[in-house]
Amino acid sequence: MIDFSLKTDHPSNTKTDAVAVAVHEGQKLSWAALDIDKASKGALAAALKAAAFSGRCGTVLPLFNLAGVSATRVMVYGAGEAKDEKAALAAKDARASGRALASCAVDQSIAELTIFPLSEAAVDAMQQMVMGVSDATYRYDETKGTSAKPKPSLKRVRFGMPEDAAKAAPAALKASVATIHGMEYTKYLGNLPANHCTPTRLGDEAKKLVKSHGLKVTVMDRKAIEKLGMGSFLSVSNGSDEPPRFIVFEYAGGKKGEAPTVFVGKGVTFDTGGISIKPAPDMDHMKWDMSGAGTVFGVMKAVAELKPKQNIVGLVVACENHISGKATKPGDVFTSMSGQTIEVLNTDAEGRLILCDALTYAERFKPKAVIDIATLTGACVVALGSHNAGLFSTSDKLADAIIASGKKMNDRFWRMPLEEDYQEALNSNFADMANVAGREGGAITAACFLWRFAKKYDWAHLDIAGVAYKGSGKEKGASGRPVAALVDYVLSNE
Ligand code: BES
Ligand code: MN
Ligand code: ZN
Repeated sequence: MIDFSLKTDHPSNTKTDAVAVAVHEGQKLSWAALDIDKASKGALAAALKAAAFSGRCGTVLPLFNLAGVSATRVMVYGAGEAKDEKAALAAKDARASGRALASCAVDQSIAELTIFPLSEAAVDAMQQMVMGVSDATYRYDETKGTSAKPKPSLKRVRFGMPEDAAKAAPAALKASVATIHGMEYTKYLGNLPANHCTPTRLGDEAKKLVKSHGLKVTVMDRKAIEKLGMGSFLSVSNGSDEPPRFIVFEYAGGKKGEAPTVFVGKGVTFDTGGISIKPAPDMDHMKWDMSGAGTVFGVMKAVAELKPKQNIVGLVVACENHISGKATKPGDVFTSMSGQTIEVLNTDAEGRLILCDALTYAERFKPKAVIDIATLTGACVVALGSHNAGLFSTSDKLADAIIASGKKMNDRFWRMPLEEDYQEALNSNFADMANVAGREGGAITAACFLWRFAKKYDWAHLDIAGVAYKGSGKEKGASGRPVAALVDYVLSNE
């Protein structure tokens, strides 16, 4: 794990393996680059000229042995266009800079990197750079076998903050370090193959997380789930040989009896589709169908590290959607914990079937707000692609707060409609409702299904099917989204 800290020396006297300073397009020097240039008697500006440094975001130019500079290496990083002298880096660009600097440090086998952000919006830039460093140094190797690579060399990252940012920096750094610890845990759980990351394993991970962090957890097995009357949840689990788990995290940082925020995660450790079986291409992606649950694990980890003065509950519904003689058949009817009956017309619309019982369970906490997170529909991916997750909410205030956190962390949401007009499509002649409507507005009708179970509190539903992972190429893997936005949302309530 990389150690992050703050550093107060001038860039030119910082004793470290590499100092990183920003230069804009047009070779316009930032405050930190100016300091290095002065100390080296113009060597930095001369090197930029010789290299024709573009200053584009995401580029890095390493320089060595500059006279008058304590660090052996200076990494100049591109800060893009300088609209005015103090132009801030956009969140995306700052993250790209952090990523590029960390990659360069790892390439050069460096152990300690000291980064000097721009003076404008330095604290926001630092937060994004921490995420960029995490992007570049995160490794999945649990099942890589003999091709597992050695751990990256980078052990310490320090931030040299401009004076006016020094006050806000410590709390912001702590928040983003906890955030990447959460994100890396979410990625780890998501990337584990489904034969490793079973509901049982998630239950065991929950107990492990709690041991190291002072949370409370209850892990329920099939019997306990039956006793709760979660007939809808169990209808999905029934076709699998893997036993289900219902996990309840409780963090008590607020006053006793204070209404908690409740997070609910979809934890389908593999989604074959059931009898309404999925097509073969890309079916491996369905190991990431527990990414909502993974997000709850990541958020709880960050919460336990940050200890906010609030009460927070995390609910994880974990099972496998599989096929066997015990599997649900299209047309079967089940009774949910709420008492409402459901005709399962498509066994591949299983996420809503497990979440609805958790939403009913959430009532017992008399929550301030309930936020569920789920890789719920392919329709949401069609609608929004992979940059924004879908957001549905019964509360404008809750929706606005989540959207604001998403913008700040560049972990974005786009609000979608939640309206009675869409409910009719879920009518059934044999139960209170069907679990699917037609193809049209599939992400909306899925949200409408959940809405029927979320009437007793303010509620938001996050459909993360498009953002939780990249499905192909070199970057194939979990993204850790939307942990950053949700941790920021929690902190915004402090
Ligand atoms: N887990 C899937 C949704 C999904 C699709 C996640 C693509 C990630 C990428 C979900 O359980 C599902 O199968 N939904 C169906 C619903 C349909 C049957 C109404 C879908 O989207 O096709
Ligand atoms: Mn499905
Ligand atoms: Zn699913």
